[in-house]
Amino acid sequence: MFFPYTSGRKGMLGSEKEVGRVAQTVVVGVTGGIGAYKACELVRLLSRRGFRVKVVMTDAAMRFVTPLTFRTLTGEPVASSLWEEPAYGGVRHVSLAQEADVMVVAPCTANVIAKLAHGRADDMLTTTALAAQAPLVIAPAMNAEMWRKQVTRDNVAALRARGAVIVEPEAGELACGDVGEGRLAPVEDIADAVEAEACRARDLAGVRVLVTAGGTREAIDPVRFIGNRSSGKTGYAIAEEAARRGASVTLVAAPTCLADPYGAEVVRVTSALEMRDAVRAGFDRADLVVMAAAVADFRPEGPAEHKLKKDAGAPALALVRNPDILAELGERKDGRLLVGFAAETRDVLESARAKLEAKHLDLVVANDVGAPGRGFDADINRVTFVTAEGAEELPVLGKDAIARKLLDRIAEMLARRGQR
Ligand code: PMT
Repeated sequence: MFFPYTSGRKGMLGSEKEVGRVAQTVVVGVTGGIGAYKACELVRLLSRRGFRVKVVMTDAAMRFVTPLTFRTLTGEPVASSLWEEPAYGGVRHVSLAQEADVMVVAPCTANVIAKLAHGRADDMLTTTALAAQAPLVIAPAMNAEMWRKQVTRDNVAALRARGAVIVEPEAGELACGDVGEGRLAPVEDIADAVEAEACRARDLAGVRVLVTAGGTREAIDPVRFIGNRSSGKTGYAIAEEAARRGASVTLVAAPTCLADPYGAEVVRVTSALEMRDAVRAGFDRADLVVMAAAVADFRPEGPAEHKLKKDAGAPALALVRNPDILAELGERKDGRLLVGFAAETRDVLESARAKLEAKHLDLVVANDVGAPGRGFDADINRVTFVTAEGAEELPVLGKDAIARKLLDRIAEMLARRGQR
């Protein structure tokens, strides 16, 4: 039987899932490899660890194991076709995706890895994965040559950069008789990865987070402005990840083309002064502030009332300083956790350390915005977390993955302070 969707994970504070009364749901995707038989053991293990488990299979998987096996192990119907009638109306792949607190694909073939990496959705499993907001754990299993191929490595790297957790296959004798890397990881390791993601899925429940994103625009006249290249992707990724992990999120967003992050309240602003007002309005209610926005340090002194005409010659722009919003918050932080960014093109770490101290911050995300192809308006970035204890340098990652690592770090800090 399919249960109707309960939306406990989607940023609704005080829901049953968040206070731990209802088991979290793991959707286990099984694809067509000999390791499919081990998915039976994985499903049993996850059930024993207290998860409600639902299985979705590809056609190829059903050649190795039958849906009946999983239905018997889980007590839940097994999804395999996009075209079967859902038990309670609605659209089945969407309701399964919404129910998932974690989705794991084990074993995951090279073919399904490629589909997931490229957003293809042509069966029940890949459609569910594409529709899911939940963390994704992937346990690849395949022939050693297929695993070694550059195209597979690239697909795995793309998934990892988007925040998927890869439980690497191990070396050993493979079903095809070859010996090499490609055998499904031990089911205990896969279950551990799922459990870690499930814990993460709740670790910010009850925390009130204020995030800023995008670049402010400072009007020159009614149609022109001084701006910067921030796309808002970083702040949006942080807001979405925080909401996914149970936080109550307000996002103060400068103009961007991005869709609202799922589960966050969005307050739209244009200029630095408007952003300051919106941040001040949300500050008293916040436990944590993450200032990812690129706030203009200067604005034209008096924007023209009407569009400036070129016949009048080049205007002389007099600029005045904008308030430093984050520095103002630092003066009255009163137990809140404050996270700032440092966008620099040289002396990146020194500047980040100086900002940490001067603005009374708990963490600064330092990024070298002079490096081509990353940072501003890109999907990837390379950042270093700077705290009073030291610096942690991350590799080049997708902005979703950076958001995730940042919130891992913040959750640790909150736990240390006894706020979690
Ligand atoms: O939006 P994306 O395309 O994803 O790009 C991401 C990013 C490069 C914009 C992001 O990673 C980033 O670095 N954001 C901060 C940019 C910035 O303004 O840095 P800063 O070093 O000038 O400012 C330091 C901190 O003070 C920042 O947290 C900033 O939000 C804050 N600030 C700055 C000036 C100001 N007047 N008020 C502020 O609150």
